[in-house]
Amino acid sequence: MILGIDLGTTYSVCSFLDENGEPQIVINTEGSRITPSVVYFESESSVIVGQAAKDNSITFPSDVISAVKNDMGIKKNYPVSYVEQCTPEVVSSFILKKIVSDANKYIAPEKPINDVIITIPAYFTDAQRVATEDAARIAGLNLIKTINEPTAAALYYATKSKLNHANILIYDLGGGTFDVTIVRIDGNDINVKSTSGISKVGGRFFDEEIVDHIQSYIEDKYDIDLEDEEYLDIYQELFSKAEKAKIQLSSQNKAVISVRGGSFKESITITREFFENIVSKLYRRTEFNVNKALKDAGLNAADLDKVILVGGSSRIPYIENHLEALLGIKPSHEVNPDEVVAMGAAIYGRQLSDNDASDGKVIHDVCSHSIGVVTIDPSSMTKINSIIIKRNSPVPTDALIPFRTASDNQKEIDISITEGEFREVSDVTIIANEKIRLPEQLAMGTRGNIRLQLDKSQLVHAFLNIPEINYEKEFTFTRSSNLTQQEVDRLTGIIADYEIG
Ligand SMILES: Nc1ncnc2c1ncn2[C@@H]1O[C@H](COP(=O)(O)OP(=O)(O)OP(=O)(O)O)[C@@H](O)[C@H]1O
Ligand SMILES: [Mg+2]
Repeated sequence: MILGIDLGTTYSVCSFLDENGEPQIVINTEGSRITPSVVYFESESSVIVGQAAKDNSITFPSDVISAVKNDMGIKKNYPVSYVEQCTPEVVSSFILKKIVSDANKYIAPEKPINDVIITIPAYFTDAQRVATEDAARIAGLNLIKTINEPTAAALYYATKSKLNHANILIYDLGGGTFDVTIVRIDGNDINVKSTSGISKVGGRFFDEEIVDHIQSYIEDKYDIDLEDEEYLDIYQELFSKAEKAKIQLSSQNKAVISVRGGSFKESITITREFFENIVSKLYRRTEFNVNKALKDAGLNAADLDKVILVGGSSRIPYIENHLEALLGIKPSHEVNPDEVVAMGAAIYGRQLSDNDASDGKVIHDVCSHSIGVVTIDPSSMTKINSIIIKRNSPVPTDALIPFRTASDNQKEIDISITEGEFREVSDVTIIANEKIRLPEQLAMGTRGNIRLQLDKSQLVHAFLNIPEINYEKEFTFTRSSNLTQQEVDRLTGIIADYEIG
């Protein structure tokens, strides 16, 4: 049994295939189909994950960590009690453990499940992808593969709809990330044509803007600081009230938030107009990416057969209406925006484990960022970024960077692998900066290549290749934004001892 896990910024969802091969959603131990991606560090030996942790953020704000997905791929240590090295990977691993443990209880208490597919925003970088894989490792799980969230949604839709030839646009706006992906279905082939996205946008930022508004109103009126110790519980509670109000505004024209402190009591009305003003700023940025994805796919809006809304924030009517106006096609409500990604991942799991995939759809995905190396521009003799694998190239893929040794018995060559779209080195991310050892006794002028490879999960691999002596070897490089293998191993041991509720 392989679980499909949508590890979300705000909520996580888990799916599995029942005996008929139909994807089902796990109901967690709290009786819910979605689990807040929130962790409360309760003691030296126990953490609480999910709704109870979210509720505790009011009482123990500094020991409750949320929205950790927005920090993946960044070196960060949350200063919580009880865990010394509390990195984004560690927090994510606790969420994963809770999700898998609940799935086990729900599906097969007697048979431990350890195999998982985890979904990842299409726009995630190499560092963010590696961090997610490390989180799975720290949780002690067997990560079969990752799959991009909109691609998983497309796989589910293609399997269910039985569409044979269609261009589909997936607009995925969740709690903390945005992706747009264009997919062409041709029989059993699901070809991703292009993808684009924005990191750090989505529902949680709408909540924050509502909180900011209320906070300023109260602070100005009563001359207090809501983030002071004495008001901290009121302040924390405002976030869940803001989220509830926001959700209400998807079906009503106004929502009221009541705030009560020692010296004040206020009921503040949030109108849909006020909220839509917040949403419109973000929506415009997503629209830009939708147009970019269409252009990269070589399509016009009129070529689209379906627009699929994915992610909880895609329920906001403003977004649906404006997307319809932009694309001239009514977004489809055939899939559940909270659950479709996890269900697509469960279906993907069957494809990977089932050797007879004749009944199944096959996915061909693309990379969301260009990969390159730092080279010297001969005209200016300055360092520039040279792209060697362009974004939206089908993965897996590889490309060669040729070199010639400059002296007899040259010991090593330097390489800087980059990620990003720009020519200026300062405008792209350096994934790795390595000195690669060359084989002994190469004559001056020996030709060789660095072969860069993007695997199916869009992770970068690098090989040293010297055809003359029939030599090719993968070299491991240090990713400065990620944990080392030793750290992963050490954290795995520490996390294994925690009780997770
Ligand atoms: N009816 C609704 N109207 C507006 N917002 C909603 C509605 N239902 C859910 N949301 C919001 O959607 C977000 C959760 O969506 P989802 O579970 O798809 O995101 P996620 O998977 O946590 O995030 P991401 O995919 O960005 O990592 C939350 O911010 C939630 O408040
Ligand atoms: Mg999501």
